[in-house]
Formats: sequence, structure tokens, C-alpha cells
Amino acid sequence: MERIITGVKPTGILHIGNYFGAIKPLLDMSNNYETLFFIADYHALNFIKSAEELRENSKKLAAAYLACGLDPEKIVFFRQSDIPEVFELNWILSNVTPKGLMNRAHAYKAIVEQNTENNLEKDQGVNMGLYNYPILMAADILLYNCKYVPVGLDQKQHCEIARDLAQMFNNRYGETFILPEPKIEESVAVIPGLDGRKMSKSYGNTIQLFCTEKELQKTINKIVTDSRLPGEPKDEDCTLSRFYALFGTEEQTAEFKKELREGLGWGEAKKKLFALMNEHIAPMREKYNYYMEHPEEVEKILQNGAFKARCIAKKMIAKIRKRIGVNPMAN
Ligand code: ADP
Ligand code: TRP
Repeated sequence: MERIITGVKPTGILHIGNYFGAIKPLLDMSNNYETLFFIADYHALNFIKSAEELRENSKKLAAAYLACGLDPEKIVFFRQSDIPEVFELNWILSNVTPKGLMNRAHAYKAIVEQNTENNLEKDQGVNMGLYNYPILMAADILLYNCKYVPVGLDQKQHCEIARDLAQMFNNRYGETFILPEPKIEESVAVIPGLDGRKMSKSYGNTIQLFCTEKELQKTINKIVTDSRLPGEPKDEDCTLSRFYALFGTEEQTAEFKKELREGLGWGEAKKKLFALMNEHIAPMREKYNYYMEHPEEVEKILQNGAFKARCIAKKMIAKIRKRIGVNPMAN
């Protein structure tokens, strides 16, 4: 089986968009690939400045993926910060990275452009963590010699940089790394938010995956509809029915749309949507709460994952050390 790797930053609470756009596709993919998946806590260090927040977010992210059905026997599930070899590779890769390549990375470029527009010094607010972010991500990928990297479109450039660095290293020291490729699932739909735009933390239009039943109901009530009254036919392709289709079977969704056409009131429709979503989410919520209350179990799973990941990482780093001429046996 070919090996894939991906990571997620522990930036906060997960929403329905993350579930259908990232979590579920990864779990599906793990049926066909040897899969490594990690919590990219060091990647979040740049914008999460409170230790407590970083710890809590990491804990929530781990609990959430386990609650969604991640099987730690099938997926090597670990925390980036448990793998010290990644920082060694990070330094080694820095030495084959042309500075100009980092100047062209999207996140850095966007800040420079904004600063220039605002007549500020071009590097204002940029620290070296942000600037070197793509090198650390390349180290994450290359340390495990992965062929594919399942990511969203926004991470495509980072994967290309990892590939470039692998190529530069191979050119200088001989074939060492497989050249990784991003695996962007084009068929994954963009999940709408409460207002019909893409669901995103930055738009504040999310439905949280593991809020309480009451909160879920309250959030569903906020889904924007038009002002048609009960009894008036509704547009069957509304945001409500798009959500319904995510959780319901084809038959259930067809029935829901028919009811809308026949004048089902928005209030009633929201109640039906809540019932359906809650039916699917409730067992996952229960698991999520369980893991949040049993952090020691989560920790054990992550330590187990880190052990497996480090077995791969240690072999790889020994090979890399030999290639570059430092002590391959260093411990
Ligand atoms: P947000 O936009 O809320 O900040 P992130 O950028 O943290 O979300 O997304 C993490 C993952 O979830 C990415 O792989 C992204 O493609 C996926 N994702 C986020 N929002 C959606 C959405 N509305 N529809 C589909 N996938 C999404
Ligand atoms: N940079 C990714 C993001 O912002 C997270 C990430 C870190 C990652 N290292 C990775 C993704 C390695 C894939 C492979 O979403």
C-alpha cells in the first residue's frame, strides 16, 4: 500500500464543513492507503500564543477525530511535537531551501502585499515561524517518505514546496526522498454555512460538530431562509435541504424537498433537520464527551501512534544523516 500523510492545525472547534470536507474523506481514504495523520501543534504556535489554549485545542482535535471514527489501529495517529526528528529534518532542509522560494510562499506574500498597501515596513508582523512554515511542513511530509498528501486546495503550494525541497536534496545528495504529490479531492463538495456562503470559522457561519443538543437546535434555527409563510411552496434547493442531503438518504431528502414544495413551514423544516442531524451526531457527541473526560486514554493512543511514526522517522533520519555526512548513529 502506498503511504499518505496529512496534518491538521489545532485551531479550535471543528464544524460540519470540516467533517464532510476533511475528516470523512481522510477516514475513507485510509481504507486504501497506509495512512499517517497528525495534530500539527507546532504549526499552530505562530498564532496560538497561550499554552493552555494550544493544549486544550489539541485535546479537542484528538477527541473529535476519534469520535468521528478514526481507528488508531488503522491510522497512525500522533502529535507532531512528539516526533523530535522532524525538527532535525527541518534544519537540514533549511540548508537546501533557497530564500527566494520562501519569499514566494502564499501566506508570507499576502502579508507583505498587505503591509506594502498600508505603507508599512514590508515584514511588519512576520516572524521566522511564519516565514519558515513551509520548511517545517516539508519536513513533516518527507520524514515519512510519503507519496501523497491529502490536503485542501489552500495547501497545494506547500506540498509543491515539499516536492521542490525533496528534489533539491536528492540532486545534492543522491536519491533519498520520494517526490510527494498533493492529493486534492475535487469531488468533495463545499459545505454551505448558516448564511449559504462557504461554512468557515472566519465567516462565523458554522455549525459546530460537537456542541450540545440545545446549541445544535439553536444554531439550526439561525439558518437563513426567505420570508415565505407556512403553506406557501418553498424553493427545494435551499440551504436547509442542502444540509438535509448531507445527513439523509436519497429517499429522505426527496421526501423533505417534496414537503418544502408543498408548503412545509420553515420552523417545522428546521425541526426535521435538527432531528435528522442529531440522530447522526448524537453517538459521535457521546464518544467525543467520553474522550474529553478520559484524556489519559487519548494520550495513550497518541503515544502509541508516536511510537509507530518514530520507527519510520528514525530509520529515515539515519539514512539522511549518512547522506549529508553527519553521525548516522547519533541518538
Ligand atoms: P475554516 O475555513 O473554518 O478555517 P479550515 O481552513 O480550518 O476551516 O479547514 C480545515 C479543513 O476542512 C480543510 O481541509 C478544508 O478543506 C475543510 N473545510 C473547511 N470548511 C469547509 C467547507 N465549508 N466545505 C468543505 N470543506 C471544508
Ligand atoms: N499546513 C497545514 C494546514 O494549515 C497543516 C499541515 C502541517 C500539514 N503539516 C502538514 C498538512 C503536512 C499536510 C502535510 O492545514
